[in-house]
This record gives sequence, structure tokens and C-alpha cells, in this order.
Amino acid sequence: MAARSRTSRDRSAPAPDSAAGDASLHVALVMDGNGRWAQKRGLPRTLGHRAGVEALRRTVTAAPKLGVRWLTVFGFSTENWSRPAAEVQELMALPKRYFDSDLKRLEREGVRVRALGRREGLSPDLVALLEEAERRTADNDRFFLQIAFNYGGQADIADAARRLAEAVAEGRLDPASIDETAFAGALSTAGLPPLDLIVRPSGEQRLSNFLLWEAAYAELVFQDILWPDYDEASLAAAITAFRARDRRFGGAVSDDVLVAG
Ligand code: IPE
Ligand code: MG
Repeated sequence: MAARSRTSRDRSAPAPDSAAGDASLHVALVMDGNGRWAQKRGLPRTLGHRAGVEALRRTVTAAPKLGVRWLTVFGFSTENWSRPAAEVQELMALPKRYFDSDLKRLEREGVRVRALGRREGLSPDLVALLEEAERRTADNDRFFLQIAFNYGGQADIADAARRLAEAVAEGRLDPASIDETAFAGALSTAGLPPLDLIVRPSGEQRLSNFLLWEAAYAELVFQDILWPDYDEASLAAAITAFRARDRRFGGAVSDDVLVAG
């Protein structure tokens, strides 16, 4: 059984409510394989991305049933700008595609939405949409959906370092007080509980600059399924694999594990 380790960051995370049962996992998902899914069907990549939105819808519905309370998904990376302009445009349109049909339901079902990543570089319309989703769901606490958009792990770490440096330069922060907890508090993921599991479908086995700091003790599960095909059974399989892991957080192997071989 995978043990939970809690750090001081948890104090800012809300306690589970009874309606959410014992759901407490923080799972991150790299939504990958849209292009290959479309290619296999002789369709344009844009249709793969649209099918990916359907997969996100299914996964957000499935997650709370499987013990997940925080779901952080990679929507658009700081490196995705290098794709052809038409594809970038399609990816930029995805939050609207998702929220137009789902924001009311997310609002009603107690889901709190938060956008991670840089707002600079995004169109004012898109920033307004992300902020509207955050504002309309701000009082919700049954389930937490983080959408990383224009997000890069290295960029997020650099931005945090700059914010801390500015605070020091302005005399608001003592450099001696910068430790792991203070640093985590300057990232765009500040206040989220520690990451338990990173799932990447599509067969690729790398982080691709997603949640680098947060991945410190996350378990990694890679699945041979393309994101548009992802469903409740796929997420259940990833969580079953996670639960079979022995999480030690740098500690020694327990006697139980040694006896069990
Ligand atoms: C993931 O699918 C979508 C984003 C990167 C936003 P891809 O577009 O990377 O699909 P593949 O990897 O080319 O199949
Ligand atoms: Mg890809």
C-alpha cells in the first residue's frame, strides 16, 4: 500500500470533506498522443486535440471515484509554441472548447479550477476565460482541477526564483529564510498538496518539463494508450499500479518488504 507523506505545504490544503470520501490523491496527467491518434485515423491533428478534450471530460468525471482529489493536467507547454501556427491556435482554443460546455457542471459539482503557468503570452480573451473559470469555482472544494497552460517546469522555477530575488532586493525577504517550503510557496503550484503520481499515456517515457520541482517523490506510471482513448479504466489501471508501489521518500526498505521479497 502506498503510504502518504505530508509536508508543511499541506497546511494550506483543505481537509477532505465527507462527500469526497477518502479521495486524497494528487495525480498529474500528461495528455499526450492526440496527434498520433488522429494520424492513425487519417484525420488532421486538430481533431485529435478535440478528441483529447473528450478524454479530459471523462477523466475529470472518473477521478474522484478512484480516490483522486487533485488532478493537474498538462494542456499547453512553454515549448508547444514551436508547433505550426495553426496547431498552436487550435490548442489555444481548447480551454474555451472545454469550459463552454463544462464550466457550469464543474461549478455545480464542487470542482475548483486553477490555471497554472504564465499568463504573459496568452491572448487577453484566454486569460479572461481562465480567470472566469477560477473566479466562478473559487468557493468549491470537493475536487481540484489544475490546468497547466503556457506552463513549463523550468520556467516556473525561474519565475519563482525571480519573485524571491525581487522580494529580497526590496527588503521584504531574508535570504536565510529561503528553504524548500518557501521556494515551493513561490511556484505557480503553491498550496497544492504533494504530488503522488504522474501519469503519461502515449508510450513516451519522459516528463517533458512538467512539474519538475513537484515530481521529487511522485511515482511515475507510463501507459501505452493515446490520450484521446483514455477513460476511467485507464486511470483505474494507473492508480492500481501506483498503489502497488512502496513509497519510501528516501527512507529505508521496511522489514515487511524484505520478508516479502
Ligand atoms: C498532446 O498530444 C497535446 C499537446 C501537446 C498539447 P500531441 O499533439 O503531443 O500528440 P502526439 O505526441 O504528436 O501524438
Ligand atoms: Mg506529444
